[in-house]
Amino acid sequence: MKTAQTESTFDANKLILGDNLEVLRTLPENSVDLIYLDPPFFSNRNYDVIWGDSGEIRSFEDRWSGGIDHYIAWLKERVEQMHRVLKPTGSLFLHCDWHANAYIRVHILDKIFGEKNFRNEIVWKRTTAHSDSGRFGMNSDSIFYYTKTSKYTFNQQFQDYDEEYRKRFRTDKNGRLFIDDNLSAKSLSGGGYEYEYKGVFNLWRCPVETMAQYDKDDKLYYTGNGGIRLKRYLDELQGLPCQTIWVDINPVNSQAKEKIGYPTQKPEALLERIIKCASNEGDIVLDPFMGGGTTLAAADKLNRRWLGIDQSPMAVKVTDFRLQNQTDLFSVLTPPYTVQLHKYDYDTLRYKDAFEFESWIVRQYGGTANMKQRGDLGLDGRMGDNTPIQVKRSDNIGRSVIDNFKSAAERYDRNLFIKNQKAKQPAGYIIAFSFGKGAVGEVARLKNEENVIIKLVRVDEIVEVAVKPVINVKIKELGRDAKGDRTIEFTARGESDAGVEFYSWDFEYDEERGFKASVIMDKEGRQAVPLPAGTHNIAVKAVDNDGLENIEVVRLRLNGKVKREP
Ligand SMILES: C[S@@+](CC[C@H](N)C(=O)[O-])C[C@H]1O[C@@H](n2cnc3c(N)ncnc32)[C@H](O)[C@@H]1O
Repeated sequence: MKTAQTESTFDANKLILGDNLEVLRTLPENSVDLIYLDPPFFSNRNYDVIWGDSGEIRSFEDRWSGGIDHYIAWLKERVEQMHRVLKPTGSLFLHCDWHANAYIRVHILDKIFGEKNFRNEIVWKRTTAHSDSGRFGMNSDSIFYYTKTSKYTFNQQFQDYDEEYRKRFRTDKNGRLFIDDNLSAKSLSGGGYEYEYKGVFNLWRCPVETMAQYDKDDKLYYTGNGGIRLKRYLDELQGLPCQTIWVDINPVNSQAKEKIGYPTQKPEALLERIIKCASNEGDIVLDPFMGGGTTLAAADKLNRRWLGIDQSPMAVKVTDFRLQNQTDLFSVLTPPYTVQLHKYDYDTLRYKDAFEFESWIVRQYGGTANMKQRGDLGLDGRMGDNTPIQVKRSDNIGRSVIDNFKSAAERYDRNLFIKNQKAKQPAGYIIAFSFGKGAVGEVARLKNEENVIIKLVRVDEIVEVAVKPVINVKIKELGRDAKGDRTIEFTARGESDAGVEFYSWDFEYDEERGFKASVIMDKEGRQAVPLPAGTHNIAVKAVDNDGLENIEVVRLRLNGKVKREP
């Protein structure tokens, strides 16, 4: 039912569950400013599997049914799509390692982007030294940087000076560190200003007025042997322009706030540098192998719009919870971000904001939603040929809805109504969760007696509707620490036909503030938490293999005893 989007309807700030090849094909060409991709490495080893859910395993088998040729073909068709969706001014950064970097550069990137659009191979020191038996320790990754054309966004980035360079700075009378720089133009190939300043005659790099200003600002350094040089203060310098070897960005360590707990998580600082370099505020950043959403988290903080795709429901939900944890989420300024799964749970759809639901389901059906919330004869959208659509966010729709809709459709566009009647085409569509016998009978009567076809469409015929997990939480007191705080163990058990994949915990849950995960990914569903006396709300979410979630809140009062409140 879905059609490819055109640039004007491109909605960013979206997490999409699916094979990126299929999703990329639905995106308009020339629409994205920056793509960062960190595909699974060519290793055929278990550590390549992060999430272990059916989506990821499918992808794993898919790219591994053959050797390196198969892997390269698998990745190449995806990169071709990425090249198509990039704007002419756009850039792509492909993150890989020694397993396949040579093949990727020559057989994929040079072929698709052209050698002339190769900008850099960045070598990122991924880990501290370690030994690899019989060869040098492999502690780096390659990030290939290509642009679509020769006109592209490039904002110079800077890195801190290294220790060696810092030793060249000296301290002035105020304790500020400075380095002295040449003011003489003699060593330059041409140009300069000839004059005498404070008794020193020279060919200077700046006019006399600038020299006097430097002097006034205490920026001149008199060398003592008749020389005058310029003081450059460390606190005013931007740093060293970034080179291709990046050793100043550490991997995500075990204590890091951003740590989620899977091996291939990339540090936000790495993505920040790439995003700042190759995009501007408001630009669209795409990560087609989004994993735990590092690119999106960094892009959002930097006020970029974003789009993330992953084939694993776990990756999508972990990213969702990670973004929910970010305060000042950029995306809340624009329409809130959406999560597109394969299945939708009945309760969420049924009790969603009515207008939001109506527009969404009309679009899912392939129609165009009415932008007005009221009026329009109670119609909510139309198909491409203008045939009206009405949405009822309820079950068991009755006969009167059909009759009212028929009159509304006739008043809405009488010529079209008659044309449809003659052509035995639907005069309109009603979308609802279910239809009662009265409605079904009335539709049959209208068809037989008045030759008017009204098509009844159930929501679960448009999108797959499933039941979200059910959760049960048990608590157990494990003991007290020296401060007298109790350690309480929470054990969550989720049930779902699709199978529960992981749990996420908020130890300071506040309904108004919403769920902010203290622990984003817990595969066991067990947490031991030290809690002081008082009242506590502990929330746990269970996420199943369709990406559907449910929440359970445990209210505890800890005084003399541990009391669980209903
Ligand atoms: C190396 S991880 C990305 C890690 C990410 N950069 C981060 O920092 O969290 C690769 C991701 O690609 C996903 N993936 C693999 N094949 C895919 C496909 N065909 N379509 C979409 N996602 C895919 C995996 O599920 C996994 O989450």
